[in-house]
Amino acid sequence: MSTPAIEVRGLRREFRASQGLFAPPRRVIAVDDVSFSVPAGSVLGVVGESGCGKTTLARMILGLMEPSAGEVLVDGKRLDGMDRRARARLIQPVFQDPFSSLNPRRRVRDIIAMPLVAQGNVTTLEIDRRVAESLERVGLSTEQGTRFPSQLSGGQRQRVAIARALVLRPRIVVCDEPTSALDVSVQAQILNLLAELRRDLGLTYLFISHNLAVVEHVASEVAVMYLGRIVERRESEALFRDPRHPYTRALLDSVLTPEPGLGVPDVGLGDIMPDPANIPPGCRFHPRGPACFAPCAATAPRITSLEDGLVECHLAG
Ligand SMILES: Nc1ncnc2c1ncn2[C@@H]1O[C@H](COP(=O)(O)OP(=O)(O)OP(=O)(O)O)[C@@H](O)[C@H]1O
Ligand SMILES: [Mg+2]
Repeated sequence: MSTPAIEVRGLRREFRASQGLFAPPRRVIAVDDVSFSVPAGSVLGVVGESGCGKTTLARMILGLMEPSAGEVLVDGKRLDGMDRRARARLIQPVFQDPFSSLNPRRRVRDIIAMPLVAQGNVTTLEIDRRVAESLERVGLSTEQGTRFPSQLSGGQRQRVAIARALVLRPRIVVCDEPTSALDVSVQAQILNLLAELRRDLGLTYLFISHNLAVVEHVASEVAVMYLGRIVERRESEALFRDPRHPYTRALLDSVLTPEPGLGVPDVGLGDIMPDPANIPPGCRFHPRGPACFAPCAATAPRITSLEDGLVECHLAG
């Protein structure tokens, strides 16, 4: 077996959220004992409703946030203790909002050059060469490289963010809702670009979206998150053909409603909103599960291995 691009073991993250001066802080468990690995060259899609812990997971894998417990290995090396610059050469982010993640006072080519400049010891000639290479890879012209972010469209700005992520030629890119802030017509272009880059450069992606329809076309495997846990993880094709967890089914149904891709899906699971500060006992999904029975409320389900993945549900065994 070759070394996985990403491996996380028992990853957990808690927050203490203040509720004002006199109330005790809320203890939020955003990511709860999550383990998985992503083979080099593949794409793991991560889906789930707002607040289920996707961004928290992504930030820990990027080394931007300390886990409360557990560990992250990138290309077989532990993230904690890894030199910041070495980490940047291995793994890079593309975030949702190209409007806030790009410095408005800098020209596009300087934004793209930034990770390279931060490495130190790189000649101006090399920087120019690598920036030109990155611009070309994402389909931007040299002229567009001289503009400011405000002079570009949303899709072009996201191309800048991707070019910046690629300038160090990393092996792994973590995409957190990379198309959610874009018009539907532009979303497909960015998804195609990401797919093309992965093929050409042999990249590994962790690809986060609240929308299953978005990950369907890019992911080799899909992990479904619910209240901080991965409740189902399957090969992409199997998940869409034969979802095993009731939550996955609900997410899939929501994708089939008109105008998928717009906003957060209505998962059709009633009015009970999941609250990571108040995780139900037993199976954390049971208050919303249409077919849940007594054991669901009493004991947490074990992870069941399937031929093509894993599921954590009493009903799926
Ligand atoms: N810095 C923080 N301080 C306190 N609570 C936080 C912090 N960051 C995240 N949380 C909480 O952790 C939980 C998971 O948040 P996270 O942003 O990871 O979810 P998400 O799945 O990315 O949601 P979305 O789809 O809206 O981006 C939420 O309840 C959130 O309020
Ligand atoms: Mg998020």
